[in-house]
Amino acid sequence: MAEVRRVGMLTGGGDAPGLNGVIRAVTMRCIEDYGYDVVGLKRGWKSLLSPESDTVMPLGVGDVRYILQEGGTILGSSRTNPYKNEGDAQKVVDQMQEFGVDALVAIGGDDTLGVARRLHEDFGTQVIGCPKTIDNDLSATDTTFGFDTAVSIATDAIDKLRTTAKSHERVVVVEVMGRHAGWITWGAGLASAANVTLIPEVEPDLDQIANIFKERAENGEKWGLVAVSEGVTLSEEFMTQTAERDEFGHVRLGGIAETLAKEIENRTGIETRHVVLGHLQRGGTPTAFDRILSTRYGLRAAEAVKNGEWGKMVALRGNDIVTVSLDEAVAETKTVPDDLYRVVETFFG
Ligand code: F6P
Repeated sequence: MAEVRRVGMLTGGGDAPGLNGVIRAVTMRCIEDYGYDVVGLKRGWKSLLSPESDTVMPLGVGDVRYILQEGGTILGSSRTNPYKNEGDAQKVVDQMQEFGVDALVAIGGDDTLGVARRLHEDFGTQVIGCPKTIDNDLSATDTTFGFDTAVSIATDAIDKLRTTAKSHERVVVVEVMGRHAGWITWGAGLASAANVTLIPEVEPDLDQIANIFKERAENGEKWGLVAVSEGVTLSEEFMTQTAERDEFGHVRLGGIAETLAKEIENRTGIETRHVVLGHLQRGGTPTAFDRILSTRYGLRAAEAVKNGEWGKMVALRGNDIVTVSLDEAVAETKTVPDDLYRVVETFFG
């Protein structure tokens, strides 16, 4: 193991409230307890593939002490994929050396962590992963920071929409983030007592949905709320905003709430509107839960650097923060199991 003097840190993929909590904890522990030099590498893997004049951000305790409450990431982010084009991964490794970064803490979801895993395997890069995603879809950890904040925001939004939906006797369909996994929608639908909650894991039944709102109207409640994940499909195909794909091959989702609203209105005759929550779910200040989780991840990630646990990712298992291999971390998408879907389905109507 090469001696560690300078630790680099980067954040990749969609931002999540809590990223700054990890950055703060890694920085403080690495400097105060281990005597390392710490630098932030701005804009995810782009920092090492096409660096700019401000890419390397020296981090001191004073720079991070009060960032715990701030959403977003002080290091910026990108969806740059160094494995998209031949030879780019080598450039990343060379650039790390040029910056004098001996060890890297990569904070991200399955895409960012997948790159970290390959760099470790292909080049022996001294890297530690830290899981981040509001989607909560990483199977190797019980939960990720950002998820609790996103569920709280979506719950609050649906609560607010209830009063206006009732006043105007409308159904409102609320589109919630979640591509393949419906965790945020599941949590917010349950917590806000939405009348129908739809997730990508379960095919929607339009007749069942229409009947729910027809019956409610017959019982004097000509209004209602539907929480739907952006990844829900009506015909096997995702509803998308553009045909473009990002460097990891993801399309930009959007449109299911609007389509569903039209279907419900046509089938029930009740005025139906739609609201897309979008990036509101990732913005603003993290909940206390996410501040605590991200801090614990950051401290353990710093410790993993000190122990030389390369190729590992920090994870929450029960009450403990442990390390697991990056292979395990990116092996499968954690989706909502059927028994949990049945919990929310109990309250349809
Ligand atoms: O991966 C997190 C996430 O918020 C998804 O839920 C969503 O589909 C995607 O990112 C949106 O990404 P972008 O900000 O690039 O549009």
